[in-house]
Amino acid sequence: MYILKNIKKIFKDFVLEINDLHIKKKQLYVVTGPNGSGKTTFLKILGFLYYISSGEIFIDKKKVNYNDKEFLVKKRRKIAYLFQNPYLFNASIYDNIVCGLKIRGYNNYTIKKKFNDVCNKLEINNLIEKNIFNLSGGEIQKIAFARTLILDTSIFIFDEPVSSMDEKSINNVENIIQSIPEEKESTVIVTTHSKDQAIKMTKNRISFVNGKINNVG
Ligand SMILES: Nc1ncnc2c1ncn2[C@@H]1O[C@H](COP(=O)(O)OP(=O)(O)OP(=O)(O)O)[C@@H](O)[C@H]1O
Ligand SMILES: [Mg+2]
Repeated sequence: MYILKNIKKIFKDFVLEINDLHIKKKQLYVVTGPNGSGKTTFLKILGFLYYISSGEIFIDKKKVNYNDKEFLVKKRRKIAYLFQNPYLFNASIYDNIVCGLKIRGYNNYTIKKKFNDVCNKLEINNLIEKNIFNLSGGEIQKIAFARTLILDTSIFIFDEPVSSMDEKSINNVENIIQSIPEEKESTVIVTTHSKDQAIKMTKNRISFVNGKINNVG
């Protein structure tokens, strides 16, 4: 799916450096590492939200050309991305959850069906009438997760999806994440602070220390 060759992302006080990394199709990858080690930066590069300072990225065997805006927009549409600190729009919970489907041109019938499915999966039916300003931190995180999970993209990127959730919800969401590669035939990349969580979820583990990959697997 992705090949990263000698890439660098240089910030004023931080450099992310990856020499050679392959991310395979329809696999689940868990990314770990301490605060500030580069996890989010890595995900944003994979999501084509950040340009790289040097090096090469290939996606589906095609070299990424950052000057080709059309190519980038097309690729971004194939990625469902959950931000580490997601925000909800000032709209109903329904509109917040289905916005990605609307952008991608799904019809209303399919949108409603997918909305019901995702609400059942995440056990959030009790929230859908609520005003978004009255939601708790964990509830906001579930709505943001639902908005991402509802898509049928070939890549899912989740940045700390369960950091505000209770134990039962974490187990549920972890099971959902683990089932995505097979159910949706997609590649999944997820960050976590919990080593135990990472070990439990997959053998594909990427661990960052100070901007460099410490170990893969
Ligand atoms: N846009 C930016 N401009 C300048 N520096 C940045 C930018 N984005 C990230 N950084 C720096 O890069 C480093 C890595 O940040 P990153 O967000 O990737 O860490 P992280 O591993 O996701 O941390 P956390 O566990 O806290 O989420 C940090 O020192 C951060 O300050
Ligand atoms: Mg982060």
